[in-house]
Amino acid sequence: MAGPRTVNWEKPDSGLTCHLRERFVSAIAQASSRVLVPATAVLPYRPESAARARRLVRGKLVDWELEGLIDDAQLIVSELVGNAVRTGCLTHMTVRIRRVTAGIVRISVRDGSRTMPVLIAAGVDEECHRGLALIHRLTRGQWGVTADEFGKTVHADLRVPAG
Ligand SMILES: Nc1ncnc2c1ncn2[C@@H]1O[C@H](COP(=O)(O)OP(=O)(O)OP(=O)(O)O)[C@@H](O)[C@H]1O
Ligand SMILES: [Mg+2]
Repeated sequence: MAGPRTVNWEKPDSGLTCHLRERFVSAIAQASSRVLVPATAVLPYRPESAARARRLVRGKLVDWELEGLIDDAQLIVSELVGNAVRTGCLTHMTVRIRRVTAGIVRISVRDGSRTMPVLIAAGVDEECHRGLALIHRLTRGQWGVTADEFGKTVHADLRVPAG
């Protein structure tokens, strides 16, 4: 009489299958982290934070293979951080870049001031009040402010070029 049958639930893998499967899983993980994972930096209210914010934004856009957006994104984040620095808050601001959808990159800066930004139509000879107007132009009006209990977040959206 035949003895009890042992069932091996693990599919026997050859070394090559294992290797291919691992590479496949890691490629998928890498691809999804590129799309989904935002980048965030918590920075002091100091002018040098603008350079750190630009590096953050550049790094993420390179990651996402969106080098064509780097110049506009760096200008935007510089203006947002510059404005946050001028609020004179004391602790830290939060700079973030994320994909709202596959087609939209959002850059945002949260600061600890409840004063709202105002889009100002600067005269041709005026040297200041140009930051938000620039952001308005670069984003085709796709920017905004969200207040919270202790401050607000100003965001600006850039469209990912088709193709
Ligand atoms: N994060 C913010 N918190 C409070 N006020 C802000 C903020 N961002 C902008 N503002 C205000 O909104 C107005 C317009 O800002 P904008 O960036 O266009 O010009 P600016 O900062 O005065 O000058 P520039 O950016 O040309 O150096 C200014 O009065 C500015 O102080
Ligand atoms: Mg400004």
